[in-house]
Formats: sequence, structure tokens, C-alpha cells
Amino acid sequence: MRINLTVDGTSYTDDVEPRLLLVHYLRDRLGKVGTVVGCDTSNCGACTVHLDGHSVKSCSVLAVQADGCEVLTVEGLSANGTLHPIQEAFRDKHGLQCGFCTPGMIMQTLDLLAEEPDPDDDTVRHGLEGNLCRCTGYQNIVTAVQDAAQRLRAGGAR
Ligand code: FES
Ligand code: FES
Repeated sequence: MRINLTVDGTSYTDDVEPRLLLVHYLRDRLGKVGTVVGCDTSNCGACTVHLDGHSVKSCSVLAVQADGCEVLTVEGLSANGTLHPIQEAFRDKHGLQCGFCTPGMIMQTLDLLAEEPDPDDDTVRHGLEGNLCRCTGYQNIVTAVQDAAQRLRAGGAR
């Protein structure tokens, strides 16, 4: 099937198998390896991207379902070599260790902060409950999300 979509601001037209998952299209066809696969069960959230402005687990979406849509991956967040405020916050607050969950955490945080610009601890934990981290114990992630919220409220939004 032929699909037309925009990924990180670039338009693509491709023929794909109907069963191809969006995450495999992004990684294997477009080389967007910043979006990673952490499980086979739609549990971990490492593959999270945005589809028309909302976060989805790209291992649970078919590439054909993205036809006509705008996809944003973690690779589309920085602009002209400048990290997005959420990326800066995760870096500065040590919201990662191995970094494997980080692309998904950051994309889910983008969605969370669009809904709730000033989340308390419980709201952050609830908003990220679909994203698993094996390293950090989560506290630094929560701190990073609240720091990101502060940066965005202060005018760092893009
Ligand atoms: S790889 Fe998609 S949820 Fe784990
Ligand atoms: S930083 Fe290693 S899985 Fe989260």
C-alpha cells in the first residue's frame, strides 16, 4: 500500500506492507533509529512518537495508519542544533542512565506537558505510567519533567 506522511517535518511517499509496524517503518525505512523497541508487548513505551500531535506507541500502530498524518519523533525535537527544553531538562536533572527509555520518556513528557503545564508529582507519575525505566528509580525523571515544565512555562516552548 502507498502511504504519504510527514516525519519530523519531511514528507515521504512509500509503498509498505499492510502489516508493517510504524516503528519498523521509522527505523528500517527512514533510519530514525532514535525511536527504539524495548518490548514486543506494547508495555514499555520506548517506541513512543507523536501522531498528529498525540503520543502513541509506534509498535502498536501500523505504518498504513499513519497515512496522511504528521509524525514527530525524538529526532525532530531539536532545532538548529539546540536541544528542546525537555531534552535539556532530562540532561541537566540526570533523568536518564542507560538512556534506552529516554526517547519514549521525552515524547510522552511532551504530550503530558501539553495537557498539564504545571504537573505535581502524582500527575507526572500517572502521565508516564506507560513508560518503563529499568535504571533510574523514576525520581530523577519526575524531577526532570517538572524542570522541563518550568522551562516551558518560562517561554522555552517551541
Ligand atoms: S517497544 Fe513499543 S511499547 Fe515497548
Ligand atoms: S535510563 Fe535505562 S531504562 Fe531508563
